[in-house]
Amino acid sequence: MSKPLNIGMIGYGFMGRAHSNGYRRVGNFFDLAYHPVLKAVCARDAAKAKDFADRWGYESIETDWRKLVERKDIDAVDICVPNNLHKEISIACANAGKMVLCEKPLSMNVAEGEEMCEAVEKAGVPNMVWYNYRRVPAVTLAKKLIEEGRLGRIFHYRALFLQDWTISTDLPQGGQGLWRLDAAASGSGVTGDLLAHCIDTAIWLNGTIDTVSAMTETFVKERTHNLTGKVEKVGIDDACAFLARFKNGSLATFESTRYARGHKALYTFEINGEKASIKWDLHDLHRLEYFDHRDEGKLRGWRSIHVTDNGGEHPYMDKWWVPGLQIGYEHSFVHQVADFLDGLGKGVPAEPTFRSALETQKVCDAVLASAASGAWVNV
Ligand SMILES: NC(=O)c1ccc[n+]([C@@H]2O[C@H](COP(=O)([O-])OP(=O)(O)OC[C@H]3O[C@@H](n4cnc5c(N)ncnc54)[C@H](O)[C@@H]3O)[C@@H](O)[C@H]2O)c1
Repeated sequence: MSKPLNIGMIGYGFMGRAHSNGYRRVGNFFDLAYHPVLKAVCARDAAKAKDFADRWGYESIETDWRKLVERKDIDAVDICVPNNLHKEISIACANAGKMVLCEKPLSMNVAEGEEMCEAVEKAGVPNMVWYNYRRVPAVTLAKKLIEEGRLGRIFHYRALFLQDWTISTDLPQGGQGLWRLDAAASGSGVTGDLLAHCIDTAIWLNGTIDTVSAMTETFVKERTHNLTGKVEKVGIDDACAFLARFKNGSLATFESTRYARGHKALYTFEINGEKASIKWDLHDLHRLEYFDHRDEGKLRGWRSIHVTDNGGEHPYMDKWWVPGLQIGYEHSFVHQVADFLDGLGKGVPAEPTFRSALETQKVCDAVLASAASGAWVNV
């Protein structure tokens, strides 16, 4: 018999939906020591919170996150709100003895992240950050192939995360839906929002990043602020590109922008090793491209692995359908919930913990410092 784990969710936007879907579906597909119970959702607007609770099956609502954190019937708090609230809520959760599942990026900056790590570690509460792309089966398979040594020595890591939704100069900044354009709520632009994902995956697959050299640009310098109604300076990076050196000696390029007309969420990475290379593309997320130089000459070429084998060879796929039938974006969140609950049962923390996710934060801070100074910066 699995034990209940009472969830309190804060925020009901994009991630509120993605996580709620994960909690609802996980027990149908995974055998785990715990099952999530959707106890309460918190939003400032009671009517919207109630609508969300009815749609997703939450038992109750709160309109002040502090009340939710204090509730005795909540075991774990899920933080799905803008980045400027992550620290305060996480620390309040730790002080109240609650487990914390926090959305990425961990924090606005490293100093905040350090405080958050200290709080959860001092309280001894399980904690995790939602870097969900690790749980796309093709990406998890990439990790497995690298750990098996199939690529050999790694020379290059190349990552892109391209979007095009902020090109219009008429787009305001700030407030509901547009907090990502307001540095006070987001901390940074594409660096913390999109590159944070690329950096987390890169560190997970290829190890520590030692040093970076970055450039950023803010193409639209002023936008009307939704909260003040005034035209205000834009404080975020609209685009960021950086070079990096990994501890293992490999070289990397990372690029992200919200000004690549035609691209909506093109997250790709490619890793070139001495013996083999791999490529992955979020638009075709169930495929892993693999090239192995050891293949017989006449057959040598890129192979496209459809990561849907349920015979135990492809990560997570034994929990889903029959071979050949793919799963999608939302399943990465189901997998992350499953890994968190599995970790609770086994007493092994699911990754990335706050402490692990702080590594990504350190790279983000170094990238922004390098862009500001024009110099290489050690992480
Ligand atoms: N893992 C991923 O792939 C991924 C994807 C998108 C967003 N995120 C992260 O998730 C977080 C939320 O992003 P989103 O896209 O869901 O944003 P969103 O704008 O869709 O939703 C944010 C929610 O927070 C609520 N909110 C804001 N202030 C609040 C407060 N004081 N009290 C209670 N609720 C409050 C808003 O009403 C809204 O429901 C961010 O940290 C973001 O970086 C992660």
